[in-house]
Formats: sequence, C-alpha cells, structure tokens
Amino acid sequence: MLITCKDITKVYVTGETETHALRDVDCTIRAGEFVAIMGPSGSGKSTFMQILGLLDRPTSGTYVLDGTDTATFDDDALSRLRNRRFGFIFQSFNLLPRTTVADNVALPLLYNRDERLSAAQSHERVMAALAAVSMEHRAAHTTNQLSGGEQQRTAIARALINNPDVLFADEPTGNLDSKTGLQVMRILQRLHEDGKTIVLVTHEATTARHAERMLSMVDGRIVDDAPVADRINARDEDSLRK
Ligand SMILES: Nc1ncnc2c1ncn2[C@@H]1O[C@H](COP(=O)(O)OP(=O)(O)O)[C@@H](O)[C@H]1O
Ligand SMILES: [Mg+2]
Repeated sequence: MLITCKDITKVYVTGETETHALRDVDCTIRAGEFVAIMGPSGSGKSTFMQILGLLDRPTSGTYVLDGTDTATFDDDALSRLRNRRFGFIFQSFNLLPRTTVADNVALPLLYNRDERLSAAQSHERVMAALAAVSMEHRAAHTTNQLSGGEQQRTAIARALINNPDVLFADEPTGNLDSKTGLQVMRILQRLHEDGKTIVLVTHEATTARHAERMLSMVDGRIVDDAPVADRINARDEDSLRK
C-alpha cells in the first residue's frame, strides 16, 4: 500500500479557538490510483492533502508511506521526499512572476540533491516536462505573460520535473473557466494513464468525477469512499464542446 492513514486528526489552535479540521480519518491509497477528495468548503480537504503531501503533520494518528511511519522522518527526510516523490499543483498556480516559464519549471531541480544535472541535462528535462503539457513554445515567456490555463500547465510541468510518483492537486481548476479547466483535467487523466498516482482536491462533484474513486468529506470526516460510477473522460467532453 502506498498510503495508509489511521485515526488522523488535525486541530488548529488560534488564540483561544480550536478548529477540529480532521477527525479520526482512516484511508488507504494504492499506487497508481486517481482519487478525488470532495466536499464543501471548510470540510478539511486541503488540510488532509497537506498532511498526505507531508507539508504538515497531523495532531494525532499515523501516516504510513510505503511501509514507513512518516512520524520517523526528520525535516530533511520530509523535504527530500516532497521534492523527489511528490508534485504539487495549487489553485493559485504559485509561480514566480517576472521569471521565465523554463526557470519556474526548473526550480525543483535546484533542491534535488540526489541528481546532479548539467545545464544541458536540466534544459532537456525542462523541455520534456513542458512538452508533456504542450508548453514548449512558451519556455522563454515570463509567467505574467501567460493565460490562466498556461500558468496552470506551467505549474504542472514544474510538478513533473523530478518525475514524482504522486501528484497532489488542490482545486487545480478553481481559477479557470470550464473549458480551460477541462484541459487541465485531461492532462491529469493522461498522467494517470501513464502511471502517476493522483490525489485531487475539489469542492465540485463534476470535477471529482474525472477521478476513479471519490472520498467525500464533511466536517473533517470521510463520510463516503466509493468508485466513481459515472466517470467523465475529459477528452470526450472536450471534443463535444468543439
Ligand atoms: N492554518 C489554519 N489555521 C487555523 N484554521 C485553519 C487553518 N487552515 C484551515 N483551517 C480551518 O480548518 C478547517 C478546514 O479547512 P480546509 O482544510 O482548508 O478545508 P477545505 O480545503 O475543505 O476548504 C476550516 O474550518 C478552516 O477554517
Ligand atoms: Mg481547500
């Protein structure tokens, strides 16, 4: 099993206020799955994704990744895992402004201490990642010159640069119109077909239906965990709109 979570809780403490963002969450995710975490705003989706992505620690409970309890990892091991095994995609793209597409995509290579790539090898990797999202022709543009969809595709290329096993996407279509959002879902579906494990966070049931399996969250709990019966194929949808 790739991911096994048991009794995960997360309590945020701000001043006198305690927010129980996650309550006794149990979950397993196999390598190669495409899972959507769906639920209304405030139900704990992003909190859960941040814990799964090792961006944050649970207040209690265990998270076993590939057979190892993640509580045993120090900060160095956590940042290495995030850099090498995970890719992250966010609603707001999180790109550096006034910086080229190629330099944005290359950024995680700087923190990759396991592989020492020459400038030529780095360039090759960047162009391959951009090709995966059809963005080679924009490599030299700065990110503020791009449309929203192009910015998100750049962010996906950046997430792919170290060839991670798992992609975490938190509301990746949230800032995009429906047609552009569908292009992003199509890219995620293709990456899944190519073997990536994908964890998608969304508050939209339609977006979640692009995944294979849907975890539904309400008030910090997983209330349903089921295969997506009426799965949407983004390629079919896209051709219907043309
Ligand atoms: N850093 C934080 N500090 C305090 N409360 C937070 C923090 N992040 C999230 N919360 C609270 O935790 C709950 C779950 O938030 P979140 O995981 O962002 O939900 P979702 O992604 O489903 O909208 C909400 O009540 C939110 O206000
Ligand atoms: Mg959220």
